[in-house]
This record gives sequence, C-alpha cells and structure tokens, in this order.
Amino acid sequence: MAEIKNNNAAGEQAKCLPRHIAIILDGNGRWAKNRSMPRSAGHFAGAENFRKIATYCQEIGVEYLTVYAFSTENWKRPEDEVGGIMRLLDKYLREAISDMEKKHIRMKVFGDVSRLSPELQSLVKKTDEITSHVEGFQANICLNYGGRAEIVRAAELYAEDFASGKVTEPLTEKMLSDYMYSAGIPDPELIIRPGGEYRLSNFLLWQCAYSEFYYTDTLWPDFSEKELDKAIAAYSSRDRRFGGVKA
Ligand code: IPE
Ligand code: IPE
Ligand code: MG
Repeated sequence: MAEIKNNNAAGEQAKCLPRHIAIILDGNGRWAKNRSMPRSAGHFAGAENFRKIATYCQEIGVEYLTVYAFSTENWKRPEDEVGGIMRLLDKYLREAISDMEKKHIRMKVFGDVSRLSPELQSLVKKTDEITSHVEGFQANICLNYGGRAEIVRAAELYAEDFASGKVTEPLTEKMLSDYMYSAGIPDPELIIRPGGEYRLSNFLLWQCAYSEFYYTDTLWPDFSEKELDKAIAAYSSRDRRFGGVKA
C-alpha cells in the first residue's frame, strides 16, 4: 500500500489510499457554457486542472493516475472542437516532456495513436522514451481510447502470438490483461466521473471489474484537491468483498 507523503486531509485515509485512480474528465463544455465562453475555453480549463490534480495525486502517494481525455467516439464532434483539443494535447505533451525527468513523472498514452497527427505521434514516442528510464508516479492519458477497441486489440495480439507459436498456452484472464494498454499496472481501485453523468462511456471496460465508482455533479474544471479527498474518503468507507463474505 502506498504511503502518504505529506500531511493533508487524504493523509488520514493513508491505509485506504488507492494505488491507482482513474478519472473521466467530463464537463468541460458545460463549464464553458455556464460562463458564456466557447467550449475550447472549457477544454483549456480542464487541461489546467489535470495538471493540478496529477500533481496532487503524486504528492499524496497515488502511484498511477489514468485519465480519459479523448474517446474513440469523440471524433464525432465538430472539426474545430477536435482540432482545438488536439492543439491542447500538443501543448501539454510538450510541457510534460520538459518536466518528466525533473519531476519524476512517467507518462503513457493508452489508445490507438495511429489516427493522431505525425507531430502528436512523435511526442507520444518521446514520452515513452523518457518513461522507460524515469521512476516514480505514472500518468496514463487515454487518447483515441475505447474500452471495447482495447479488448479487441488485445484479442488480436494474442491470436497473432498464438498463430506464430510465440505463445502456446490457452488464453487466461492474466494473459489477456498483459495485452492491454495497462499491462503491468494494477486495475484502478477507484474510478471517478465528474460532470454529473452516471456511465462509463467505454472507459476501462476490462480493468473496472472490481473498481469502486464515485460520481459527482462537479464539472471537471472545478474538480479540486478537496473533491479528490472526498472521493478517496468515500472509497475508503466502501466494503470491498470481491464476491466473498465479510470475515
Ligand atoms: C470532456 O468534456 C472532454 C472530452 C470529452 C474531450 P466535454 O467536452 O464532454 O464536456 P461536456 O460533457 O460537454 O460538458
Ligand atoms: C467521455 O465523455 C469521454 C471523455 C471524457 C474523454 P463524453 O462527454 O464523450 O461522454 P458521453 O458522450 O457523455 O457519454
Ligand atoms: Mg461530456
């Protein structure tokens, strides 16, 4: 279990701190609309908030933070909104690349990056290179990510390895997990959805089997460190039985 590194409200929950928290970054558009601003301003505010919450997760000792930033379904949005999100990703990946070593941050992109621009693809490659030699907190950014697409991809990769003889054993749950983008990372104990919707929207379908869910009406750009403490406190009060019975 991770140790809390500083003294804050979540510190009281030290024993129940999740190793892995996943967040669906939802509500940027409504946040902007409430302020009569363009949706792009909401995405900008959401990206700034990601930086704040990721820093906080690292401070309190969370080991992995996985965020849903752009789904396989989000391409349905107007071209200028998608273009704006991609420009923001470019900016944040560049800033992350210059900070990762200094701040001990590992970064992975989960999703099919082949549909991203060559510039974004090379930034993703660069984050992978840095991640391979940095130790510490890991942020996973789900980009052009869909849970179903991830499961299909994993099945295809296994089938290829089986056909080529690289793998000879019949498929198990553990093996399929190792073909997911999240290979080697514990499943998220806690999944948070701000923005008032009660659905997964194709997020981490394989990994969420025993995750605890926390929903809040707070829109993502307003989701504060205090809100995260509340989500962790709610998580720590849950009785996780994994199909068994209480001792
Ligand atoms: C989440 O905020 C960001 C993405 C899905 C890219 P939304 O843009 O979905 O915000 P709402 O749900 O319209 O408020
Ligand atoms: C989920 O939010 C996807 C991301 C946050 C990246 P959406 O706004 O796309 O989800 P729906 O359309 O409300 O289900
Ligand atoms: Mg939304």
